[in-house]
Amino acid sequence: MSCDSRSTPQEQLRSDKVHPPVPPMPVINLGHLTLEPETRSRVVEDIANACHDLGYFQVINHGISQSVMDRAVEAASEFFKLPSETKQEFASDDIRRPVRYGTSSKDGTRPSRTFLKHYAHPLSEWMKYWPEKPPTYREDMGKFSAGVRRVALELMEAILEGLGLGKHYQHEEFENGLQLLQVNCYPKEPEGESAIGLAPHSDHGFLTILLASCPGLEVLDRSSDTWRVVQQPRHALHVHVGDCMEVLSNGRVKTAVHRAVLNHGEARISMASIHSFAMHEKVSVAKELVDEQDPEKYKESSFSDFLDYLMSNADKKRMSFLESLRT
Ligand code: OGA
Ligand code: NI
Repeated sequence: MSCDSRSTPQEQLRSDKVHPPVPPMPVINLGHLTLEPETRSRVVEDIANACHDLGYFQVINHGISQSVMDRAVEAASEFFKLPSETKQEFASDDIRRPVRYGTSSKDGTRPSRTFLKHYAHPLSEWMKYWPEKPPTYREDMGKFSAGVRRVALELMEAILEGLGLGKHYQHEEFENGLQLLQVNCYPKEPEGESAIGLAPHSDHGFLTILLASCPGLEVLDRSSDTWRVVQQPRHALHVHVGDCMEVLSNGRVKTAVHRAVLNHGEARISMASIHSFAMHEKVSVAKELVDEQDPEKYKESSFSDFLDYLMSNADKKRMSFLESLRT
């Protein structure tokens, strides 16, 4: 199981310069979405602009308590500290497994990232597959997952409204959609080296909501073609849009390319929650966003089609799944 296209060819990224975030990272106060209509409209517009101009933003006042966030990071961190044999029980090359543990390495020896990926919605269906160690894992990760899913649905409504489709557009498909939690552990950066933990890619799905224990995420700024360091204030969640959003919006919103770098001083935990339609539900361009000037730019596909594409190794041919959908 995997969540991302992982296939933006490195050479497409002309610059490797790292800049501080300019323009400033949009910070959306989610609590304002439930205030009077004028305030909601303003926030919907802010979200629409962030999606259109950048493809990423951050949310505060999202309703997930600091203790729920801290405990989820702690549970993840405890999981990665377990003996290798315990973690290896979840190791598999089969990307359709409900829980999958693995490591990736750039030089074949030292891991640059260790991950645990599992589905999280509906919890009653998936939690029984999750690790039982550490003993807090299921409860703490379950609370965090449920909170993040609520935030994702709220954001999706606002984004659909911003696209002029109305907040209830394809409501049932989003309600019944899947959630994939990708829990990452990055080691400390080796002395004197500058290392990438996770290569540039875009995520499949509509939205990714990310919580991390410290900085390390970088997003590609499309206008300047440079990497921007993402600073995440303690209580904020980082959000970026994925391939399905680009498809549904007929390219009005572009998927966000991002990567993770290793830190000198400390290991890093991150949790990327990916939200999409159910496994076999097709995502297609919204017909309302198609006309003679703007013909349909993408073919329809499901999450299952995406997994099939990954397994067929077609992405090794340097075409991302999203590129394969272009008409
Ligand atoms: C991912 C991802 C970024 C990070 O898991 O898809 O992009 O900072 N993670 O760990
Ligand atoms: Ni990603």
